[in-house]
Amino acid sequence: MAQRCAAVAARPDPSRQRRLQGRADLRAAQHSGGRASRRLAGRGPQNKTSVLNKLHIMKEQNRRSFLQFLGRTGLAVSGASLFTSLESCGEPQHNKGYTETGEKIEPKIEFPFKGLAAKTEDQLLLDEGLEYQILAKWQDEISPKDKFGFNNDYTAYIPLQQGPDLQEGLLWVNHEYLDPLFVHGFARKADPKTKTKEAIDQELYEVGGSILHIQKKADGPWTIKQDSDYNRRLNGFTEIPFDWPEAIAGKKVAMGTFGNCAGGVTPWGSILTCEENYQFYYGESDYSQDAEQPKRIASAYGWEHKYPDNLPEHYGWVVEVNIKSGKARKLVALGRCAHECAQVHEASDGRLVVYTGDDKNDEHIYKFISSQPGSLTEGTLYAANTEKGEWLSLNYEEQPILQEHFKDQTEVLIRLREAAKLLGATPLNRPEDIEFDPQTGNVLITLTNNIPKGDYMGQILKIEEDSEDKTGLTFKAEAFLTGGADFGFACPDNMAFDPRGNLWFTSDISGSKIGKAPYTPYGNNSLFVYHQAEDKVIRVASAPKDAELTGPYFTPDGRHLFLSVQHPGETSPSLEELTSHWPEGGDSVPRSAVVVISGPSLDKLMGYNS
Ligand code: FEO
Ligand code: CA
Ligand code: CA
Repeated sequence: MAQRCAAVAARPDPSRQRRLQGRADLRAAQHSGGRASRRLAGRGPQNKTSVLNKLHIMKEQNRRSFLQFLGRTGLAVSGASLFTSLESCGEPQHNKGYTETGEKIEPKIEFPFKGLAAKTEDQLLLDEGLEYQILAKWQDEISPKDKFGFNNDYTAYIPLQQGPDLQEGLLWVNHEYLDPLFVHGFARKADPKTKTKEAIDQELYEVGGSILHIQKKADGPWTIKQDSDYNRRLNGFTEIPFDWPEAIAGKKVAMGTFGNCAGGVTPWGSILTCEENYQFYYGESDYSQDAEQPKRIASAYGWEHKYPDNLPEHYGWVVEVNIKSGKARKLVALGRCAHECAQVHEASDGRLVVYTGDDKNDEHIYKFISSQPGSLTEGTLYAANTEKGEWLSLNYEEQPILQEHFKDQTEVLIRLREAAKLLGATPLNRPEDIEFDPQTGNVLITLTNNIPKGDYMGQILKIEEDSEDKTGLTFKAEAFLTGGADFGFACPDNMAFDPRGNLWFTSDISGSKIGKAPYTPYGNNSLFVYHQAEDKVIRVASAPKDAELTGPYFTPDGRHLFLSVQHPGETSPSLEELTSHWPEGGDSVPRSAVVVISGPSLDKLMGYNS
């Protein structure tokens, strides 16, 4: 839901626009037409009453939607117990600009960050006034039977209770991929066909997601409630049904989820986790020769050699997870590609609009518009032509060109990239994360880079929908922030808005390119905040060696930031030649971990005296 925040300052757009217009690299970096649009002013703040009314309406819709989900997937949960659990679930991230009791947070007085220079140390370094604790790292026990998985990525915090003495909630964490070197000592250049089934089963366990029941008592750290039944793992073995009338490549239920990169939260508090680079695990299908008999392209991990019934078509979906029960479903209606994320907006009539990016060079952005309130299964998927500012329908019945090339809607959704190209969707430079600007309602999309096309630095693209509720089919697109020397960042990836409306984002310079031209001036991957009043980007955290900071997610009061430190030491040639020892130091193997950042600077930004 895009909610406009009363507390943020007005954007200094004219001066920034002049700077952007002067940049020769802007057009090269962006395939879109870049029409200027300034329809930002004149949107008044929401008052407290309207926000609370909206939350009440949302809860009613959420119940209906979730019952629909449970009914279709056949889960044995009664309506009564479900309502109880939803009531206690709190409102995730939707009350931006307001406290838990609905009071408006007063405007910030100063921007407290001094900023870090680019760093190269094997440490998580933070700006003055910030501190971190490690909440969970690879192989930590999260329950008597489960361990925290590999390469944590997206996080989402669903509060259960929030008070001065106790904060408690459920944290979803993606485990995107694994490194066989660290998991079972598999040599870097060894043939994946030589892996044992035991080794592949170890790998299957490391991916997917974790659900952690966490709490923080006054003046204490965040901890995992080890005795909670909520703590669980989803992984490469988890049985997950396709929520679609037809079987997908012969199956109604997929084995596992993996490649879980970024995600989103629905208005009713479930998690959307996105299967990004699915082709690495069971390979890919090439339909270019004969659509009836696609050619199988081998994977990097070689899982298909031990589990031949699991086909590439079973993966590459957006997966919805009930964070309380752990039950999940694959949302076929949102299409199949290397989904980075899924960002949900609830229109005023209850229909959902879901934006998702496909993180690959020259791929596209999509939006799904539901035909029914609260539905993630019934509706139409569209691909963006950012040059014309049009959303192109992927509805088989409406598009003769799709009828010429595919046999039905299911095939269009499975072969989404091909269908989008036939319709004229604009190739983009690795569309990754998507967030809604709480001040303007605009859709921000990180385009990380496209090195073969000469875009090394990337940008953040802004889409301004012509429709107020995002259900229309025309829009304007232009650059919002460009990577490079002017702003001092490269390769933007994950984003989050804090409750004050400030944009935070991370960078993803690939591990093999960190410190090398043209990325030398940017140091290690980092976390940045955009200081809109001064139109500058400030580095507030620097990652350990080879690592990427991912999955930023704020608690509702904005005083705690969950953040993943992902793949430290990923360029290590062997276990004897480790490039990172974060976080434990010494000779230890590196471990991805979720940290929580807090401190007086963040408190000050949020308007609290600490
Ligand atoms: Fe998994 Fe697109 O980063
Ligand atoms: Ca990412
Ligand atoms: Ca990335």
